[in-house]
Amino acid sequence: MIVKNYKVKTSSSTNIYVNADYNYYKELAQERELVVITDDVLYALYPDAFENQKCIVIKSGEENKTLKTVEKIIEQLVEFEADRRTLIIGFGGGMVCDITGFVAGIFMRGASFGFVATTLLAQVDAAIGGKNGVNFNNYKNYIGSIIQPEFVICDARVLKTLPEDDYKSGLGEVIKYALISDMDLVEYLNENVENIFNQVPEVLSFIIKKCIGIKAKIVEDDTNDFGLRHILNFGHTIGHSIEIIENIPHGIAVAKGIVEEIKISVKLEYADKSLIEIAENLVSKFISDYKCEIRQEHIDLLVKDKKKTGDMINFVFLTNIGEPLIVKTEFKDIIKALKS
Ligand SMILES: NC(=O)c1ccc[n+]([C@@H]2O[C@H](COP(=O)([O-])OP(=O)(O)OC[C@H]3O[C@@H](n4cnc5c(N)ncnc54)[C@H](O)[C@@H]3O)[C@@H](O)[C@H]2O)c1
Repeated sequence: MIVKNYKVKTSSSTNIYVNADYNYYKELAQERELVVITDDVLYALYPDAFENQKCIVIKSGEENKTLKTVEKIIEQLVEFEADRRTLIIGFGGGMVCDITGFVAGIFMRGASFGFVATTLLAQVDAAIGGKNGVNFNNYKNYIGSIIQPEFVICDARVLKTLPEDDYKSGLGEVIKYALISDMDLVEYLNENVENIFNQVPEVLSFIIKKCIGIKAKIVEDDTNDFGLRHILNFGHTIGHSIEIIENIPHGIAVAKGIVEEIKISVKLEYADKSLIEIAENLVSKFISDYKCEIRQEHIDLLVKDKKKTGDMINFVFLTNIGEPLIVKTEFKDIIKALKS
C-alpha cells in the first residue's frame, strides 16, 4: 500500500501512504511503544484516533511553534517514560508535524517518528522532506533540523473538517507545484475547480500524489537544501511579506506572491508576459476573495528581511511553466521590478 517511497542521501527513506486511514499509524508501529503529539483542535475532532494512546496535546496556532512548547513536550515524554525506541507520531497540520519532527530529532539524541498529516498543506508539503523546527522570537523556522520521518499518512477524508481558509492555503502550495513543474497539472487544476472545492476523493488523491511526487523528487536530489530545493521557495520571497503584513494563511500569501514573482520574471526579461495571465487566471479560480496590491509596507518588510542575507538574493524566476530558474540577483533589482 506504499504509494510513494522517497530515499534521501542519508541512509533513511520515507514511506508515504496516500488514502490510508488516519488510524493506520497504529499498525505501522507494530510492537513499538507509541506517543502521539497533536493539537487541541484535532484531539477534539478525532477522538477515535487517540483512544487508549499516550497523547501529548499542544495548543494549535503558529504562535505555539516555540522552544517553550518543545520543552513542555519533552517533559511529558519523560513522564510517559518514553525512550529512543518509542515511536513518536505527529498527528496534525504543518505546525504539529514541524514541532514533532524537531522534538523526535533531539529527544535522547533521536527517536523514530511518523506523521499523520491532517491539512492539505501538510499532506502536499510540510510533512514531506524532513524539514522540522520551531520559530524563534519573530523569526520563522529559525531553529530546526532536516531529519526524515519513517512514514507519512495522508488521509484526504480529514480535510472535510478543515476550515476553508486552511484548505485554500494548501491549494496555494498546489498551484506552486503546478507552475514549477507541469502544464498538465495546471490544466488539471483549471478543469477541476468544482471537484477540488467539493473534495471529490479521486481528484484530491490524484493531486496529493502528484504534488508529493514533485516534492519527493526534489528532496531526493537536494535533501540538505544546498541548491535545487530552493525552487520550492518560488512565490515565498514576496509571499512571506504578504503573509506577515496582511496576516493571512501561508499558502494564500504564497499564491499572491507567485503572481508578483512572475511579474518580476517578466519585467527582468526572464519570461514572456503571457505567463502572468496563466498564473493570475489559476490563482483567481481558487483564491479569489483576497485582494492584495503590493504597497510600500510590503517592500519595507522585504528590505528589512534582506538585511540578514546581504545585497544579493537567490531569486526563483519562472521562465515558463515547469521551468523555474534560480539566479543570484541584486536585491535592489527585485525591489525596482516590484515597484515599477
Ligand atoms: N517543514 C516544511 O517543509 C514546511 C513546509 C510548509 C509549511 N510548513 C509549516 O507548516 C505550518 C503551517 O501548516 P498548516 O497550514 O497545516 O497549519 P496548521 O498546522 O497551523 O493548521 C491550521 C489549523 O487547522 C487545524 N487543523 C489541522 N488539521 C485539521 C483538520 N483535519 N480538521 C480541522 N482542523 C484542522 C489546526 O488545529 C490549526 O488550527 C507553518 O508552521 C509552516 O512553517 C513547514
